[in-house]
Amino acid sequence: MSRSVPREVQVIERIAETATVFTLRVRFTDSRICRAYAFHPGQFNMLYLHGAGEIPISIVSDPEDEFALDHTIRAVGRVSQALAQVQPGDRLGLRGPFGRGWPLTQAIGNDVVILTGGLGCAPAVSAIHFIANRRAQYGHLNIIQGVRHADDMIWQARYKAWAQLPDTEVLLAADEAGTHWSGYLGHVTDLIENARFDPKNTIAMICGPELMMHNGVIELLKSGVPDDAIYLSIERNMHCAKGHCGHCQLGPHFVCRDGPVFNYADIRPWFAKAGI
Ligand SMILES: Cc1cc2nc3c(=O)[nH]c(=O)nc-3n(C[C@H](O)[C@H](O)[C@H](O)COP(=O)(O)OP(=O)(O)OC[C@H]3O[C@@H](n4cnc5c(N)ncnc54)[C@H](O)[C@@H]3O)c2cc1C
Ligand code: FES
Repeated sequence: MSRSVPREVQVIERIAETATVFTLRVRFTDSRICRAYAFHPGQFNMLYLHGAGEIPISIVSDPEDEFALDHTIRAVGRVSQALAQVQPGDRLGLRGPFGRGWPLTQAIGNDVVILTGGLGCAPAVSAIHFIANRRAQYGHLNIIQGVRHADDMIWQARYKAWAQLPDTEVLLAADEAGTHWSGYLGHVTDLIENARFDPKNTIAMICGPELMMHNGVIELLKSGVPDDAIYLSIERNMHCAKGHCGHCQLGPHFVCRDGPVFNYADIRPWFAKAGI
């Protein structure tokens, strides 16, 4: 399937997650494309809204769900705010999937730490579905998610369900608590110290704001996880999504083509450096 031209999808559901975050469940209008489309957890699509523009958005669905593709979006600017107005029945353009996703084959047989911050949890959700569907193939699973305010914690029901999986721990943190907050109060990266994993046999997957990912890397290295066992999902402005325009450059890498998921050892010189 060509990824140069947006293919038409129809919005089949719009879920309001918070005042500014929403999920669009979409489906290709051409059933042949629907059948041919496949993605790896951690990849992203370019969503195109006529008259507004096109933006990269991670795919949060279960990769085995052939029926629909979910995208959870925070309305921050021109295109995402326009997408927030979209309703079931409306049509969008979709190009993708793009990029390299999480190292889920390499993680087989290892403990897994999935560390996410804010809406950074979105690129990790399909990886969690993937592991949950093959639970026996992986070691201890730590799902560690943090938000600024407890009210920003979307997908509470999903976290509860994941906590019931065998050999799985879900640790939640908020910088500021609401009235009913029972999780940890403080930075999400503080939770790494008490998480249960064998550092020499662990694959860590991190996504969220760059400062949070930077602190997460420091804590994981302190715990003894080797730098080449840590993977990060990086966000950059994008235009072509095909490694042509250079908008998404990170040192010698293009985030759209070589990422968004990178091995920390490969991007250490350019990661979390101002202006890069
Ligand atoms: C690989 C990849 C995957 C992504 N996945 C998701 C996803 O699943 N869900 C999602 O909501 N976003 C995701 N993003 C980010 C999303 O693409 C941007 O938020 C979007 O491009 C902003 O475009 P806009 O036209 O709405 O805002 P612009 O008009 O381009 O920006 C308006 C303002 O918002 C600020 N801004 C831009 N991006 C962000 C941001 N991410 N957070 C806070 N402020 C921002 C800008 O600095 C600017 O001040 C992803 C980005 C990449 C590269
Ligand atoms: S968006 Fe054009 S090179 Fe990555």
